[in-house]
Amino acid sequence: MKREITKAVFPVAGMGSRFLPATKASPKEMLPVVDKPLIQYAVEEAIAAGMTEMIFVTGRNKRAIEDHFDKAAELEAALEERGNLKLLSTVREILPPGVHCVFIRQAETLGLGHAVLCAKPLVGDEPFAVILADDLIDAKPAVMTQMVERYSYYRRSIIGVQNVAREHTDQYGIVRCGSALNDVHQIDGIIEKPKPAEAPSTLGVVGRYILSPRIFDHLANARPGKGGEIQLTDGIAALLKQEQVLAYQFQGTRYDCGSKIGYLKATIAYAMSHPDVSAEFIEHLRIVAARLPAEERDRAAA
Ligand code: G1P
Repeated sequence: MKREITKAVFPVAGMGSRFLPATKASPKEMLPVVDKPLIQYAVEEAIAAGMTEMIFVTGRNKRAIEDHFDKAAELEAALEERGNLKLLSTVREILPPGVHCVFIRQAETLGLGHAVLCAKPLVGDEPFAVILADDLIDAKPAVMTQMVERYSYYRRSIIGVQNVAREHTDQYGIVRCGSALNDVHQIDGIIEKPKPAEAPSTLGVVGRYILSPRIFDHLANARPGKGGEIQLTDGIAALLKQEQVLAYQFQGTRYDCGSKIGYLKATIAYAMSHPDVSAEFIEHLRIVAARLPAEERDRAAA
């Protein structure tokens, strides 16, 4: 694989059922962490890694995502008239010049692998990134930047992984690693959501992928896997037989914003470092912590 990575695919057609009723009429990717929707964090990560084509695989009820990345002429005019230049630039900077968004519909939600396959006509024959917006990762540099650096060196598909608790292996794609090359490992096998007793390791895939375009052939031929869905993991398992795929254990803290608890943890962490609210918010946390019964406090500190 030779070319640089310019295209990022965001599968955003999922139903977000774990967040109902909040996600009944608006997409889960639009849930805000402090003041930015999850999808904007994901897009910013792709842009920071040098990508310029944002490909959204959308479904029903996802209009808000298109609107978010579209120019909002009336809103901009109103902010300008009020002289609110700070907010005006916040709104204008959502999408920097030179970055383009394209939207393609996934008519049926047949699984993550199927969603990625829907992007094939827009990706073409070049390596590309996939970012799952509900995996919010706080990292410096951002995880995609870390992965693109490794890609530039190894020119292989790379999957972001992290150690997960053994009792949670059934929530992740789990990789089996072979030999290590500095900070990446060659993947020998990958399996979608194995039971803890059957998991080949505790290295779980977390929503960041750089993939060879050959993945599309495997996804096109993939049969329904776990949960009756076309799984990206199964496509990667087939790709492995054809070419090397690497696992990269990234540096950073990941929040599973597809779950209520992960989302709440992300909100607290991001609020604690947000320039507009951090001081008052941290003070509030102190007050709340002081109200906890002593044993709860000790448990939280442990
Ligand atoms: C998807 C993938 C899984 C991966 C996970 C990361 O699962 O199928 O392999 O580990 O994302 O968040 P989902 O969480 O969409 O069920």
